[in-house]
Amino acid sequence: MSDTTTTSNNATVTPFCLRCEYRKSPVGMDVTRPRLGWKLEQIDKKRRGCHQTAYEIEVASTLALLHDGSPDLWSTDKVQSDETIHIEYDGKPLQSRQSCFWRVRVWDEEDCVSPWSDPASWNMGLLEKSDWDAQWIEEKEPYQVKDDSDFPPAVSFRKEFSLDSPVRRATAYVTGLGTYEMFVNGSRVGDHVLAPEWTDYRARIQYQTFDVTDLVSQGANAIGAWVGMGWYMSTLMAFGRFAYGKDHRLLVRLEIELEDGSVETIITDDSWKSNHDGPIRLNGIYEGEDYDASLETPGWNQPEFDDSGWKQVKTAPLGEEALVWQPNEPIRVVEERRPISIINPAPGTYVFDLGQNMTGWCRMNVVGSAGQTIRVRFAEMLNDDGTIYTENLRGARCIFNYIPNEDGQVEFEPHFTYFGFRYVELTGLAEQPIQQSVLGRVIYSSSPDAGVLECSNAMLTQLAKNIHWTQRANMYSSPTDCPQRDERFGWMGDIQAFSQTSTFNMDMASFFTKWVKDVRDDQADDGRFPDFAPHPGDTNGAGWCGVPAWGDAGTVVPWRQYQNYGDTRMIEEHFESARRWVDYIHKANPDLIWREGRGNNYNDWLNGDTLIMDGWPTEGATVPPDVFATTFFAHSTQIVAQMAEVTGRQPEAEHYANLFENIKTAFNAAFVKPDGRIESDTQAAYALALHFDLLPDNIRPLAAQHMVDGLARYNGHMSTGIQSSHRMMLELVRTGHLDKAYELVLLTDFPSLGMMIENGATTIWERWDGYVKGRGFQNPGMNSFNHWAFGAIGEWMWRHIAGINPDDRHPGFKHFLIHPRPGGGLTWAKG
Ligand code: BGC
Repeated sequence: MSDTTTTSNNATVTPFCLRCEYRKSPVGMDVTRPRLGWKLEQIDKKRRGCHQTAYEIEVASTLALLHDGSPDLWSTDKVQSDETIHIEYDGKPLQSRQSCFWRVRVWDEEDCVSPWSDPASWNMGLLEKSDWDAQWIEEKEPYQVKDDSDFPPAVSFRKEFSLDSPVRRATAYVTGLGTYEMFVNGSRVGDHVLAPEWTDYRARIQYQTFDVTDLVSQGANAIGAWVGMGWYMSTLMAFGRFAYGKDHRLLVRLEIELEDGSVETIITDDSWKSNHDGPIRLNGIYEGEDYDASLETPGWNQPEFDDSGWKQVKTAPLGEEALVWQPNEPIRVVEERRPISIINPAPGTYVFDLGQNMTGWCRMNVVGSAGQTIRVRFAEMLNDDGTIYTENLRGARCIFNYIPNEDGQVEFEPHFTYFGFRYVELTGLAEQPIQQSVLGRVIYSSSPDAGVLECSNAMLTQLAKNIHWTQRANMYSSPTDCPQRDERFGWMGDIQAFSQTSTFNMDMASFFTKWVKDVRDDQADDGRFPDFAPHPGDTNGAGWCGVPAWGDAGTVVPWRQYQNYGDTRMIEEHFESARRWVDYIHKANPDLIWREGRGNNYNDWLNGDTLIMDGWPTEGATVPPDVFATTFFAHSTQIVAQMAEVTGRQPEAEHYANLFENIKTAFNAAFVKPDGRIESDTQAAYALALHFDLLPDNIRPLAAQHMVDGLARYNGHMSTGIQSSHRMMLELVRTGHLDKAYELVLLTDFPSLGMMIENGATTIWERWDGYVKGRGFQNPGMNSFNHWAFGAIGEWMWRHIAGINPDDRHPGFKHFLIHPRPGGGLTWAKG
């Protein structure tokens, strides 16, 4: 233990909330130089200017060594530094399975030292593929699907083993293809839902690490696991089913340290058994789930079960794909909700209202009859007659069916699917249900909440809440567009618009750490970023790749991660990839106007004139694709220049900074008139050009005035799409039109977010007019009630109502600006 000259225990700050790679005591990591961080608590609340001036970290291989002050892995001694995040571990090289316990203390501005923090830990997973010494197992005779409407049932695997002495510690490393649930001696292992989560399984499969010490014991033991379709096999938009593969696979390595000092290892090999005759007959992301309780075989995941009818598995070696730890917070049940009402729109049909559009599923506790299917359907909205509205779900089968084996009480929830819903419809019950018959299970990637915004205007407070709920609903290991219809894809353009808002609401650091790798995995060889990540197809083919504002998520999101969390490592790892995207656009467009190579060219999606609202002007809203695309080309180029700057790549920084200037020049020459008018004279063109700093100083106020005039042409409303709405709001403030921004955000008629709330929204809708009372539903072909893209206005609310602004020159909120700008009659706000 290091000796220190200062012994005072009157430090004004003390460290707590220790984090390693953004996570609380993570297990099974494969980051060999993990980054450590902590928060500081101020002890004397009255004192001003308290801060850290130095820290000392100790890391030991056991808790006892740490307590003894014998940090055998790493000790920093006193380091003069005010850094509290991303302190890179620099001790003894970390090996597979290494346990690490650590603590930190800090010195304040008067050089007084704090007590040591409470200890935290991390441990390493399996760093090398050879560490697994296990093989994939799959069925020898898998279920053969009969036709396109036939899907394979879940596959069950089992293995028994026995232990001669008591267990000191047991760790399970597990993954599957599709998604698995594992049990040891009948108890469910961990609380992950839909693991392993969606990655490009051809390139990278995440494994999970579980401490199962309490589940294994001396004597007879059994492991059981069932594997469902998951993203690996389920239908995935245009890519159909089996996009990644066809065979249900499982990979397990269970390491058991016994009290006698020996180590037993149970791995997946050809001694396991399998079948596909279990109760989960149908399952899948878009497919829902069908469960036939008459096919249950009690005890299948416990020892001493008669598995003579089960078949021996076949094995397959580990392939080329990387097996990696899961850096992101798992998808799990985060909250439970009881219905607020039940209605009975038809005999035997019961519709429960959970009061909130959400994602996950429900657990039902009802009375059924043997052999009589209980059907549970999920929907976001109701028809006028109180029945559920399902047209907008398109091809997704938002249903689970349960066939009871006997008369009586049934408690059930599904395993290998999820739904986006507010309403749950039950039919096929033997008795009328009660409110307690349904429990909403709110399920999503469980990143912690970071902020709540409220203000004196109830509609705006509801709007902030709706944005936050929409975010929860669309975090399914990738940032999805929607959670309900047959899509649920990591559409890049949507998160590109929403990324800053997302970091105000939730701690997105570990989520983006995982997802930015997905983006890189599916970048085409020529530099094009995909339209969505993961991308189940071949990105080197022409399809679904390289679109302005969608591909640009590949620069914008990592840059936001840097600005919000100070994550230089992500920028370091991602720089080459971001640069290749900009180079791709440049190569295709040497005159610096992005005309060529725009893929599906979604432009400013959902801009006013794509709507069908009666009486709304249908012309003059849409920004021309050349203008639109070139603004993003410029923006990404500027980001790449800044990425080069912060990672010390001086020649690249100069190159891309020059390119940015040249794109600006070309943009102004091609599209901007001396009176500040931008070709098309649309709100969106001004919003984007202003927001990305493309206009000369003398032109900015002129362009801003044209943008404001554009509002007047639309009766004081926005005529913007998902890429320009929030940017126009931000630019109205930046150019001195705060009053206009408040007027827009307080609107409650078409098109406005307020109109959604007037019409009962509890989440953000895909379209301004998805549903209008008295008028009904928009075109069901594209009418999600849980789409975050327009919710990007949350960034405006956080920056200007709450007044919290990251300072881009000081990433990670090391320095930030508090600048609320009251308006719109607000009398208070908090965030
Ligand atoms: C999605 C959008 C997405 C778009 C591409 C839609 O189907 O739901 O949110 O960005 O496709 O234009």
